[in-house]
Amino acid sequence: MNTSVVTVRRVEREDAGWKARYKTFFSGCEVRKVGRKTHTYFAAYSGEDIVGHSVIYFEKGRWIMDGLRVDPEFRERGIAKLLTEARIRHTIGQGAGEIWYACEDGNLVTICCHLRYGFEKICRHSRHCTAATAHWYRLRITPELFRKFPSLRPA
Ligand SMILES: CC(C)(COP(=O)(O)OP(=O)(O)OC[C@H]1O[C@@H](n2cnc3c(N)ncnc32)[C@H](O)[C@@H]1OP(=O)(O)O)[C@@H](O)C(=O)NCCC(=O)NCCS
Repeated sequence: MNTSVVTVRRVEREDAGWKARYKTFFSGCEVRKVGRKTHTYFAAYSGEDIVGHSVIYFEKGRWIMDGLRVDPEFRERGIAKLLTEARIRHTIGQGAGEIWYACEDGNLVTICCHLRYGFEKICRHSRHCTAATAHWYRLRITPELFRKFPSLRPA
């Protein structure tokens, strides 16, 4: 495996080749299927190998990030951040005013890749929950976000 250069790209075609590599990459992981929901996958590649993967999908009026994983051999090199930024940028480009994410407290995915951008924990109005039982996070797309992270501005 060539470990020197890793590139993050949108998955343009969910063809048989990608499906096979996706399955191998997530073997042993519990991954929620996006089914027929509007969605976009982003993958990190080292050569032709998938070394990181993630998705953003649209459900019930909300854009939701999910399925973030980086190959253990490629961790702590900023790949998860690149995958998250690619998803945020893409979704802002779709006109999103906010982006959501669901995760349990203490999960490294949330700590590493979402809080830094300003995701805030939200207790959804329709449910009774406390700060401890709420697992939804929301990022509002504001001018402040672009001031702090200019790279999130869509091209
Ligand atoms: C969480 C995960 C996605 C992070 O991927 P990554 O590419 O290593 O993350 P990055 O290198 O982009 O790091 C982002 C930030 O998190 C921090 N971070 C990453 N790994 C960390 C660790 N083990 N401990 C503490 N901080 C960590 C980094 O320091 C970085 O912050 P900084 O740039 O301010 O220093 C990766 O560890 C992973 O895939 N874990 C398993 C996720 C999982 O179980 N998914 C479910 C499907 S199997």
